[in-house]
Amino acid sequence: MRPKLLVARAMFPDLLSRLTPYFDLEINQEDRIFTEDELIERLHGKFGMICTSSAKISSSLLQRLKSINDDLKIISTIAVGYDNFDIASCTENRVMATNSPDVLNETTADFAWALMMATARRVTEAEAFLRDGEWKKWSVDFFLGADIHGSTLGILGMGRIGQAIARRAAGFGMQVIYHNRQRLDPDIELKAHCAEYVDRETLFSASDHLILALPFTPEVRHSIGVAEISRMKRSATLINIARGGIVDEDVLIDALRTGQIAGAGLDVFENEPNFNRAFLDLKNVVLTPHIASASEQTRRAMVSQAINNVIAAVKGEIPPNLINR
Ligand code: DGY
Repeated sequence: MRPKLLVARAMFPDLLSRLTPYFDLEINQEDRIFTEDELIERLHGKFGMICTSSAKISSSLLQRLKSINDDLKIISTIAVGYDNFDIASCTENRVMATNSPDVLNETTADFAWALMMATARRVTEAEAFLRDGEWKKWSVDFFLGADIHGSTLGILGMGRIGQAIARRAAGFGMQVIYHNRQRLDPDIELKAHCAEYVDRETLFSASDHLILALPFTPEVRHSIGVAEISRMKRSATLINIARGGIVDEDVLIDALRTGQIAGAGLDVFENEPNFNRAFLDLKNVVLTPHIASASEQTRRAMVSQAINNVIAAVKGEIPPNLINR
């Protein structure tokens, strides 16, 4: 009998067919997000699960699961971020946790740029104006935005995605500054468009466009609040492609309302998909539904990695993207 695998969301059937020689598959074709109780019920007797960031792998879930099912060996998420996992509890319960890093770096960096440019040049606001039939004449001071070229790009979190964002600044003659838990090696800084390491305060005060690209941990929750935003230039934009919870959204909404910063581009929110509706009343914010890695090629590559991880596990090998070694 083949081991059982839960595919907790609907996805590319041609890729999933690679799993059939190894597993009896249960696929959530409805693509509904399971509650913790439903997950526990579905995972009963399973070897593993392929899931996304919407599945919360908490310590309570793992303990409840382990009390009824000793077979669960692997949870493989289709995401680089794994803040939805309690990794310590996975390890304690002998469950391998895997993610899908790297293949999304360039696509996510492209999207960070798309958001930055749309925000700085007020693209969605101007489009809404046109669609609403408001465009009656061309005016000299019509939808004035901020330049990207020649400006200072700040990056908070200079991992592989941050570095890919920085490299793109070369074509725009930008100065790149960054802050990270650890300063990068000089040769990596050089490749990241000569990015200059600065302290956190300088990053907020000197950036014309500030992109958040750091991983979410409980320590960084709401770490961008009043002190950080009040340091920013009034002409600056804040772009978030990391995790919504990093920013205190009430503070950001206030800053956007009062013009304390010029604009924000947000692909992520603290509560997804039930994001703070106050953002909808603001014209100076560009909002997208967590799609930074959503190109056809990249999402297929991420799913392939998630599949490779469970296949390695069932063969008794170490999954290539094992988090809890
Ligand atoms: C990631 O890969 O972490 C994306 O944000 C999707 O969750």
